[in-house]
Amino acid sequence: MSLSGRARAAGTRARGTVRAPRKARQSPPASAIDGCANVLDFEAIARDRMERAFYDYYAGGAEDERTLAANRGAFAEVFLRPRVLVDVSRIDTAASVLGTPVSMPILIAPTAFHRLAHPDGELATARAAGAARTLMVASTISTYSLEDIAGAATGPLWYQLYVYKDRSLARNLIQRAVAAGYRALCLTVDTPLLGCRERDVRNKFDLPAGLCLSNFEAAGLDVATMGGSFAAYATRQLDASLTWDSIEWLRSETKLPIILKGIIAAEDAARAAERGVDGIIVSNHGGRQLDGAEATLRALPRVVDAAGKVEVFMDGGVRRGTDVLKALALGARAVLVGRPCLWGLASAGEQGVARVLELLRQELTLAMALCGCPNVRAVDRSLIASGWATG
Ligand SMILES: Cc1cc2nc3c(=O)[nH]c(=O)nc-3n(C[C@H](O)[C@H](O)[C@H](O)COP(=O)(O)O)c2cc1C
Repeated sequence: MSLSGRARAAGTRARGTVRAPRKARQSPPASAIDGCANVLDFEAIARDRMERAFYDYYAGGAEDERTLAANRGAFAEVFLRPRVLVDVSRIDTAASVLGTPVSMPILIAPTAFHRLAHPDGELATARAAGAARTLMVASTISTYSLEDIAGAATGPLWYQLYVYKDRSLARNLIQRAVAAGYRALCLTVDTPLLGCRERDVRNKFDLPAGLCLSNFEAAGLDVATMGGSFAAYATRQLDASLTWDSIEWLRSETKLPIILKGIIAAEDAARAAERGVDGIIVSNHGGRQLDGAEATLRALPRVVDAAGKVEVFMDGGVRRGTDVLKALALGARAVLVGRPCLWGLASAGEQGVARVLELLRQELTLAMALCGCPNVRAVDRSLIASGWATG
């Protein structure tokens, strides 16, 4: 059965329509994004189009935003050793992630509240991912329900899970994700509490009237119905008592592959491998949780070495095809991109996300050709110039 078919079979289509946030406008003509030479250019368009507090919610990091900057900075510190006189007349960017084929090793990271960017929200993102023949990870705190996202999707999906204190909520989400055809569970492990994002404090960030955490609407556990700020809501709901034993609990709840998202330390990667997880995402939540946490590209090679056969992914600051190549060279199976897709979505809805993915694909293809790598199997650590600590 197709994803959409399964979602319909689950009988959980969205209830009613939801008003778009105050400033969400219709997609601009395609020409507005035609001038974007790279994915960084989309941020300026998004900044212009979005209400300040919403833009800041997407762009910001925790406290002094040092980790946010370090993620990008690490890519700038790494240089490549291109190899020459290799036949690169055909470049194949295809990859496989936990057995799922994707057209490129670039996936969409789970990010919250897509309807702050565009009325079509996560539905547009899912369609763009499918059109690019890649995979989207849907967030627990999406503004369309996980069933609606699956209904719109034309490509594979993973489900990102936040575990609330009331474990029955997680059980319900897992069962719904299975019914809707999601292929893996991404347990986010770097968020026992919400990091302190000071832009949000200053802006008194909250969801606008009319938007809600659609997955929790039926349970009456939406931010809007509970009152108070999103930060207070998260602190109240998130289960800060999760431990390594919780992996066994998760295993008892589902047969889906389990990926831990938010690992930085090699010791934790080794522990995850011992516990039999299927994947690890090296992530510091895009610098939104612990400010001062190590840049993900720096952490990556040590995690890869400790993870053994477990597939390792990374996210944080990936903005260029060369960034993707550097991450692959340091052992990532694929990267995930967060903010660039949100900027694409805010700029031009589905078309904007599609264009962001296409630009990244084009840049990766060029970088692979210029490095003498006709396919992703040809990418290894020898591409990384010495002088940068990979051990
Ligand atoms: C606005 C925003 C919302 C996010 N929401 C979630 C979320 O709901 N769940 C999660 O596991 N990670 C979330 N993340 C973290 C992303 O999955 C990812 O780790 C990060 O965005 C990668 O960094 P990048 O934005 O520099 O690409 C969010 C990130 C941003 C920017």
